[in-house]
Amino acid sequence: MKEKLEQLEKEINETLGNARTPEQLEEARIKYIGRKGVLTEMLKSIREVSSEERPYVGKKINELKRAVEEKIKTEKKIKLELNDEIKVTDKIAVKIDFSLPGSRYEIGSRHPLSQIIDEICNVFLGFGFRIVEGPEIETEYYNFTALNIPEDHPSRETFHTFFLDLPPQQHKKDKKDHKVLLRSQTSTVQIRIMENEKPPLQVIMPGKVYRPDATDASHSFMFHQVEGLMVDRDIKFSDLKGLLDSFCKEMFGRKTKTRFRPHYFPFTEPSAEVDVSCIICNGKGCRVCGKKGWLEILGAGMVNPKVFEAVGYPPEKWTGFAFGMGVERIAMLKWGINDIRIFFENDLRFLKQF
Ligand code: DAH
Repeated sequence: MKEKLEQLEKEINETLGNARTPEQLEEARIKYIGRKGVLTEMLKSIREVSSEERPYVGKKINELKRAVEEKIKTEKKIKLELNDEIKVTDKIAVKIDFSLPGSRYEIGSRHPLSQIIDEICNVFLGFGFRIVEGPEIETEYYNFTALNIPEDHPSRETFHTFFLDLPPQQHKKDKKDHKVLLRSQTSTVQIRIMENEKPPLQVIMPGKVYRPDATDASHSFMFHQVEGLMVDRDIKFSDLKGLLDSFCKEMFGRKTKTRFRPHYFPFTEPSAEVDVSCIICNGKGCRVCGKKGWLEILGAGMVNPKVFEAVGYPPEKWTGFAFGMGVERIAMLKWGINDIRIFFENDLRFLKQF
């Protein structure tokens, strides 16, 4: 009897192991545990087994019955899940070979520029700034007029290829129609936020900008900036210096030095360009910094009272500073990348390194 049962167990395992279709499973069910199934019949005639063998035989038959039930249940469940999730028909479901290796999904990573933008923003979040974004399609009013670049200013001319064939938009302040273009700077967002909110303000504004530059290793017609703005009472140039110096130390390392060179921007007065000590040679002079020991990374200054007037802040009451930095340039310096074009080529050999 014992041998017979062992033989039967082997047979059941094989039959169930080979059963692929619902029909085969049903066949096996009927054959072994159906009303006239082999195991059912054996249980019925258990009395005929000798009393010594009976406990073992009873136990074994029940085990085998349960194994058959379990197997059928799990197979049905797999099929049900498949039906639920991918709506496969019975025929397709049975064609899936679960023993084949699955298809591998590549794990992506954040683009290096997104990583740098996050890093820059995080430093300023730590200083109490908040992040604001503005539109990439802007009116002349926000891109120029409100930023103290008057209508007849020749620099507007250079952007004529960035104007879009869209209806002009009126601005509530001057009630004039303003043509629409791809913004050339994130400084536009300063105006939008000041028009909508009252001081004090502490915001950073990351985003894409567009320039009529011929593409080469250090120029691109599109790149990213992070703009900053702080408005409050009694803000001084030394506040700006302290903040940007701390930012550069956080971004490039504790030993980094900064220097402010006088410059001109229409929307700030006084204005400066800010350099960091070369992060490659520590200021000694090398190929990257052109033997100067310094690298220019941003523009900054005290908000021009004319800008405050444009947004309706009384200039005698409020003071503030603003700054804008190029993200690609910072990324290139940080990682020693010598061609800006590589950021936009989507070459996985490059992107996978970050
Ligand atoms: N908008 C300037 C540019 O695109 C950068 C800049 C300079 C932004 C000075 C500022 C600033 O907010 O104060 O070149």
